[in-house]
Amino acid sequence: MSSKHAIPSYLTPPDIGAWGVYLEQIDRVTPYLGSLARWVETMKRPKRILIVDVPIERDDGTVAHFEGYRVQHNTSRGPGKGGVRFHQDVSLSEVMALSAWMTIKNAAVNVPYGGAKGGIRVDPKTLSRAELERMTRRYTSEINIIIGPNKDIPAPDVNTNEQIMAWMMDTYSMNQGSTASGVVTGKPISLGGSLGRHEATGRGVFVVGCEAAGKRGLEIKGARIAVQGFGNVGGVAARLFAAAGAKVVAVQDHAATVVRNSGLDIVALQAYVTQHGSVAGFPDAEQLDDAAQFWGLDCDILVPAALEQQINRDNAAQIKASIVLEGANGPTTPEADDILHDRGILLVPDVIANAGGVTVSYFEWVQDFSSFFWTEDEINSRLTRIMREAFAAVWALAEEKKVSLRTAAFIVGCTRVLQAREMRGLYP
Ligand SMILES: NC(=O)c1ccc[n+]([C@@H]2O[C@H](COP(=O)([O-])OP(=O)(O)OC[C@H]3O[C@@H](n4cnc5c(N)ncnc54)[C@H](O)[C@@H]3O)[C@@H](O)[C@H]2O)c1
Repeated sequence: MSSKHAIPSYLTPPDIGAWGVYLEQIDRVTPYLGSLARWVETMKRPKRILIVDVPIERDDGTVAHFEGYRVQHNTSRGPGKGGVRFHQDVSLSEVMALSAWMTIKNAAVNVPYGGAKGGIRVDPKTLSRAELERMTRRYTSEINIIIGPNKDIPAPDVNTNEQIMAWMMDTYSMNQGSTASGVVTGKPISLGGSLGRHEATGRGVFVVGCEAAGKRGLEIKGARIAVQGFGNVGGVAARLFAAAGAKVVAVQDHAATVVRNSGLDIVALQAYVTQHGSVAGFPDAEQLDDAAQFWGLDCDILVPAALEQQINRDNAAQIKASIVLEGANGPTTPEADDILHDRGILLVPDVIANAGGVTVSYFEWVQDFSSFFWTEDEINSRLTRIMREAFAAVWALAEEKKVSLRTAAFIVGCTRVLQAREMRGLYP
């Protein structure tokens, strides 16, 4: 990471983690922003950061404290929007980067939001359900002062789901004195959630993957797919690829990597994971001893759908896929971007590939405001149209400017954000 950035005093250089990756991506797009580059510093500084202590009483009577964050990176185009992650490695740098990628993503697919993200540094597997509920409710109360249907709208991310969103919505509503279903998205259907939201991110990954495959002349039927992360995003994407006739030859999760050359039975694997908590021990597959071998497996489309910085200078040269489809946020470092590009591998960036989730979150929010709910077909067809159009626009810009799809998506996103910034003007 170059030293020309003003690193805020609350991060410790030189290891500023995912935020450093994001800053480098912004550097790469800056030469293409024309006169708007005058405002680019705004992209390098989160608008607002709230760090909270989240104390809970454990079931055994002891008290535990967790670090919680909510970062609103930018709200020039609308309220903050972004998920909440519960993970033992959550850090300020990570939440800052994730919030910034939300700013770019929301602008790239043109939904009327800024970017935000939240998280708690905790391994939720170590908590009982009652502890998880208490922690979620306390965190929501702590960040209550900056969230709201018109201010900042959280959603699920790693290790958070519909139930967590229900507790967040209820806690916020109790503090307000009235039900505020639009404060979070990704809620259960019975509480104002949207049909299709649960599958939306994985569906978007699949739709964009089909578009990218079309550009490369790759047939989905029979294509070999490898997926890292078998949760909401990776699990749904794998299922849709398999249903379209692709062979999902490998799946890796936090515990194991399972491989089957003729294609894994994804429906059976999902049922197995629901029961056992991971793919480890799935009977109809070979299990890799060394997780790092995953990256060198023979496949056509590689879908990183777990965590950041998974594809890096240590493994980018081994990748055999012709397409890397970023289901996760920030899975590829800038160095790895360059290696993949030099090797002719097409990388479809996160800010387009996984934007299906926030797109249907937007539909959910609109439905909650109007208390009028759409059919699943309407939602899926609108989602598919938006994803295809966003991909086509980014593809055309990448060809025109002779840049990568990531830089093209960042040009679209940053231009929209900075135009809004310029038109609003600086307050006061
Ligand atoms: N949920 C959404 O709507 C959404 C939207 C856009 C982007 N994303 C991004 O997609 C990624 C996955 O999110 P999710 O919602 O599917 O989370 P999830 O909690 O549902 O699933 C995460 C998966 O990653 C696996 N995993 C965790 N650590 C791993 C490791 N070290 N190696 C391999 N696998 C590992 C887990 O076992 C699990 O299968 C994240 O980067 C998230 O920010 C999620």
